[in-house]
Amino acid sequence: MSTRYAKSEAALERARKTIPLGAQTFSKSLTQYPQGISPYFAARGKGSRLWDVDGNEYIDFINALAAVTLGYCDPDVDEAVARQLKDGVVFTLSHQLEAEAAERIVEMVPCAEMVRFGKNGSDATAGAIRISRAFTGRDHVLVSGYHGWQDWYIGSTARNLGVPEATRGLTHQFPFDDLPALEAKLDSLKGQVAAVILEPMNIRYPSPGYLEGVKDLARKHGAVLVFDETITGFRFSNGGAQELFGVTPDLTCLGKGLANGYPLSVVAGRADIMKYMEEVFFSFTMGGETLSLAAACAAMDKLKREPVVQTLAERGQQLLDGAQPLIDKHGLGEVLSLSGHPSWSFLSFADGLGATSFETKTLFMQEVFERGILAYGTHTMTYAHTPADVERLLAVYDEVFGVIAGAAGNGGVRAALRCEPLVPLFKVR
Ligand SMILES: Cc1ncc(COP(=O)(O)O)c(C=O)c1O
Repeated sequence: MSTRYAKSEAALERARKTIPLGAQTFSKSLTQYPQGISPYFAARGKGSRLWDVDGNEYIDFINALAAVTLGYCDPDVDEAVARQLKDGVVFTLSHQLEAEAAERIVEMVPCAEMVRFGKNGSDATAGAIRISRAFTGRDHVLVSGYHGWQDWYIGSTARNLGVPEATRGLTHQFPFDDLPALEAKLDSLKGQVAAVILEPMNIRYPSPGYLEGVKDLARKHGAVLVFDETITGFRFSNGGAQELFGVTPDLTCLGKGLANGYPLSVVAGRADIMKYMEEVFFSFTMGGETLSLAAACAAMDKLKREPVVQTLAERGQQLLDGAQPLIDKHGLGEVLSLSGHPSWSFLSFADGLGATSFETKTLFMQEVFERGILAYGTHTMTYAHTPADVERLLAVYDEVFGVIAGAAGNGGVRAALRCEPLVPLFKVR
């Protein structure tokens, strides 16, 4: 057992006695963090920094899976939450903060004419699909990217255990950036597709005209077009990827960047479709919880007032510009590649140099964690990251890429691991 992560490992052992996997989120669990070389439990965060329960300090480039956009404990957001806390959290009646937050979303997000709130991104995507089905009177759905844990979506992936066959048969994946493939799916399900839902961008940029083409195809086939902007919303621009790429969907789902880590998500879009929410059942006790709504209002005001999205893109570009020469310097072009939008970029791992992608990724994690960087192949930038934070990441990448290159040329990456390598979980992007 490592001493660096001793408290994390003890806490994991304890948690696993009462909590399956010892975590609430797959991406925070030991399925993603190899045992022996990883921290598991956070003690606190501030700005771009996270401290684990062993007292190790990290510059965090994961940021609660992109839920934190401004940085941990953003003072403006925390002050708004503290103010609301004095008055209460949830009530017997609705609260005016709901309309205050909805109005800001309508102002900022191109497709948003009306808005409903959920807590997780999965609430929003499930709600969008249900109103699309109600609006069109159809059952089938076409999906591209990741859309959360609910039956309607996860049944279409390899992680479909527990999802009834009948539900699985209604959801069909289509490949991103391939209009003929989408057209073929729509043709084969003529008159049956309620919604086409996709992440407008994740790893790769859409080719010019792709999103417009998806919109045309959805319209031609009478399907509702849903952009799942759970990550890209309030990150690619104040109005999300739909604003950046200039293509307005019928509905959109927003979540992570909305309230700087407070649990809030959104279904928004065309009023004639959103009106179906008056009949469709999308209703839950915590739907109007006010701390998250206060956080969202403060976060959106900050986005409008300060150069938040510009800063995310600038810092992210600094990272990409600096990382590519390091991949080249260490001769790792065969196994490492960079992609994505600067505010949400990817370091991808491929098989090669005598190692599997998972072995190389595990060695990468082992070495960056030890050097005080929390990153596992994605970079979700926050407003709190400074140029010096990015320089530190690049200095660590220089060292770690050197370790990977050295291991590859010296008996293998596997031999350099102090743990079992990660195993494939399921791929959605
Ligand atoms: C694009 C996208 N949609 C939906 C979800 C589901 O959100 P949640 O995990 O909050 O339910 C996620 C979460 O990662 C996501 O990235």
